[in-house]
Amino acid sequence: MTEHAGFKRVDKSALPGPEVGVGVLGYRFMGRAHSNAYHRMPMFFWPPVARPRLVAMCGRTEDAVAEMALRLGYEGYYTELDAMLADPRIQLFDNCASANAHLEPTMAAIAAGKHVLCEKPLATNAADAKQMWQAAEEAGVKHMTGFNYRFVPAVRFVRDLIEQDVIGQIYSFRGCYLQEGGDNPDRPFTWRSDRSQGGYGALGDIGVHIIDLARFLVGEIKTLTAMTQTFVKERPIPDRPGEMGQVTVDDVFVSTVAFESGAIGTIEASKVATGRKNQNTFEINGSKASVVFDLERLNELQVYLREGPPELLQGFANVSVTERDHPFYQFWWPHGHIIGWEHSFVGEVNHLLTAIVRGEPIAPYGASFEDGYRALAVAEAVLESAETGRHIEVAY
Ligand SMILES: NC(=O)c1ccc[n+]([C@@H]2O[C@H](COP(=O)([O-])OP(=O)(O)OC[C@H]3O[C@@H](n4cnc5c(N)ncnc54)[C@H](O)[C@@H]3O)[C@@H](O)[C@H]2O)c1
Repeated sequence: MTEHAGFKRVDKSALPGPEVGVGVLGYRFMGRAHSNAYHRMPMFFWPPVARPRLVAMCGRTEDAVAEMALRLGYEGYYTELDAMLADPRIQLFDNCASANAHLEPTMAAIAAGKHVLCEKPLATNAADAKQMWQAAEEAGVKHMTGFNYRFVPAVRFVRDLIEQDVIGQIYSFRGCYLQEGGDNPDRPFTWRSDRSQGGYGALGDIGVHIIDLARFLVGEIKTLTAMTQTFVKERPIPDRPGEMGQVTVDDVFVSTVAFESGAIGTIEASKVATGRKNQNTFEINGSKASVVFDLERLNELQVYLREGPPELLQGFANVSVTERDHPFYQFWWPHGHIIGWEHSFVGEVNHLLTAIVRGEPIAPYGASFEDGYRALAVAEAVLESAETGRHIEVAY
């Protein structure tokens, strides 16, 4: 076919950066979020350090995985994980399946020599997560846990402010991850409702995110006390009319924590926070400054600086974290042209692919499997404290 007069075809072979072949397991919520990130990555991080090649998606239901592979821009799909892991075009295995399908598929990918990205919670218990971390270390592959909030510019900016001693000695951390709707008894029973499949409830689903941010910003958690509560104890099982599944996970937890640094704080997560859509917030109070972050206002940071304006003009300032020199923002838009939740995943996969092609570490700015494991060690201490009523020293 002749081209239209004046049209010049671009040479796709001239795209810069080495290719990293990606195979993804699971194609629903996170499968879509990660796929979007791979597509966006070379558009914004230019010239890209690496270019993701979306080789295949893997799922158990052929019609569904074929449709999603087409929709999300993959070259093909597999219905058998072993077959996908034997594909030499794939260097990175990305596990976007539910938590109960994290351990075996990820271990198989490590055994096949693939780099691994696995969604949180890394496993359904800390021991499995530790096994995954150690296997990945021994195999010498890059390993990353999907703690994407580390890649929100305002969150990374807080980390920079801490490293630059702008906040001073940290006295306290107050972190909350709140969602509503868990108290609706008509919500179906899913893998998230069951201890053996989901691991933990609000604690494993959203609590580990705020535990990770606490560790990322303030350091290791040493001891804690906690309470949990389950308000809806059974839920209807989909496609089995009249049958109810027993809920074996928490709807809400609250915890008081002590960090190794001497700072203390509170961490909580709830799936029954009426009116709260996806409110992931933290406040840090230090000797020189305080900062407040809210995911629902993720382009902003509330900052109070002790030294600065005259005393009678002091107050929390609302800082737009969209300047070119703010973390990651040189890749996005002119200042004030805000970004969204999905951009955190673009930063996450860029960090991982950069580490793969340059041989750089994932930590400390990305979350390795060690971070995924340590978040679960804290989660297990939360459960132990809730069950025994005791103050617990976190065992890593
Ligand atoms: N980082 C974040 O912000 C974030 C947000 C939501 C979910 N997550 C995490 O991502 C993971 C997936 O969550 P989701 O909301 O996408 O779940 P989902 O229920 O929407 O999708 C789970 C996917 O896993 C697949 N799956 C389940 N068992 C499988 C198996 N044995 N083999 C192959 N595929 C299997 C399902 O078919 C489905 O495609 C979970 O670990 C969840 O905690 C992370």
